[in-house]
Amino acid sequence: MEAMKQDVKKVLFREEEIQARIEELGKQITKDYENAKSLLVIGILKGSCVFFADLIRKLDLPVEIEFMSVSSYQDSSVSSGEVKITKDVSASVAKRHVLFVEDIIDTGFTMSKVMEIFQERGAASVKLCSLLSKPDRRKVDIDIDYLGFTIPDEFVIGYGLDFAEKYRNLPYIGVLDESVYM
Ligand code: IMP
Ligand code: MG
Repeated sequence: MEAMKQDVKKVLFREEEIQARIEELGKQITKDYENAKSLLVIGILKGSCVFFADLIRKLDLPVEIEFMSVSSYQDSSVSSGEVKITKDVSASVAKRHVLFVEDIIDTGFTMSKVMEIFQERGAASVKLCSLLSKPDRRKVDIDIDYLGFTIPDEFVIGYGLDFAEKYRNLPYIGVLDESVYM
């Protein structure tokens, strides 16, 4: 990962720390849904893809998976505040237990909107699991049922998270150096 190293100001969470936290989240989610007949786990593309793949393998439950694309950030480190579903799920969600998996909750706009839509679609329950949260940036109230780590107001990359579509393949989570976007 030498090619991208100069763009990382500092490493926030190493691979081992991320894996250890995911193991804990997996145990907690498994316990909470042990009496549910099935769970529909929905990954929000593209940022959650790496976290999603690791998390579902820690769920000792009968799960089905789906993916959705929601756009709110356009190649920028500043939120536009707009939410648009660009790819929807194919499964019917009525009466299903739904767990969304997201990379990061920033203003909270994206997931509060998406979760509202799924309540309206008649899901039996709608919960949220996010790897990261930046509470200092919150604009709307949102409950994160399962949270990996709380982080300060800094732009982070790696482990699925991008800046202008790059750095998703970094195995750790780091703070992006300002020189990249200044
Ligand atoms: P929200 O609607 O403001 O909560 O936006 C959440 C989305 O913004 C996430 O799904 C990310 O794609 C993106 N985002 C927010 N903060 C960061 C960051 O620090 N690094 C990379 N993407 C981010
Ligand atoms: Mg995202």
